[in-house]
Amino acid sequence: MKNLSFLAVLSLLALTFPLAIASDPSPLQDFCVGVNTPADGVFVNGKFCKDPKLVTSDDFFFTGLQKARPVANAVGSNVTAVNVNNLPGLNTLGISIVRIDYGVNGQNPPHTHPRATEILYVGHGTLLVGFVTSNGDGNRLFTKTLKEGDVFVFPEGLIHFQANIGKFPAVAFAALSSQNPGVVTIANTVFGSNPAIDPNVLARAFQLDPKVVLDLQNKFKK
Ligand SMILES: *[C@@H]1O[C@H](CO)[C@@H](O)[C@H](O)[C@H]1NC(C)=O
Repeated sequence: MKNLSFLAVLSLLALTFPLAIASDPSPLQDFCVGVNTPADGVFVNGKFCKDPKLVTSDDFFFTGLQKARPVANAVGSNVTAVNVNNLPGLNTLGISIVRIDYGVNGQNPPHTHPRATEILYVGHGTLLVGFVTSNGDGNRLFTKTLKEGDVFVFPEGLIHFQANIGKFPAVAFAALSSQNPGVVTIANTVFGSNPAIDPNVLARAFQLDPKVVLDLQNKFKK
């Protein structure tokens, strides 16, 4: 009986708010292979939940985001992510934060977050930022030069970037609308996949000589 009235309420809600509840929740990880017994399972809507009685303030705390990170790498930037993997209190809350350090001429190269919209705040420096819309919208570029105190939004799933065009190092902080936004860096993903994509496929896709593709694949090999 209890179950029946629950079902009745549920179908009523489904009729009233079809968009809100008549679909699966957004995935919180790249994939989640179904299992019938919890023995083989690891994730439940992200992670298992800690017994609330055992939860402490430290479960919602992270420290050290004031520290600049080293940027001596190929792209000249460093992203410090604070998400459910190092701040477990974020589980199921749909939010996370990053610090991004940029060296002079450094950049956060074109990438997407498959599960999150991003709102970026420039703490220091001058950044050229932009995102590109999907094919159906004509791949339009929305771009802006940001200075200290400016905020810009990168809509969920769209390819975006930031480049330091100032004379000094820069720093930005960004909030993302997922506990585990994921990152797909375009160059590394396409040319550095493991194993490598057939170079002839990429040569045709990017309209390049296969030798250039091999050179790129060598560069991004993991
Ligand atoms: C970013 O900074 C961390 C912490 O200092 C460091 O361990 C890591 O190697 C840096 N990453 C890159 C890509 O330079």
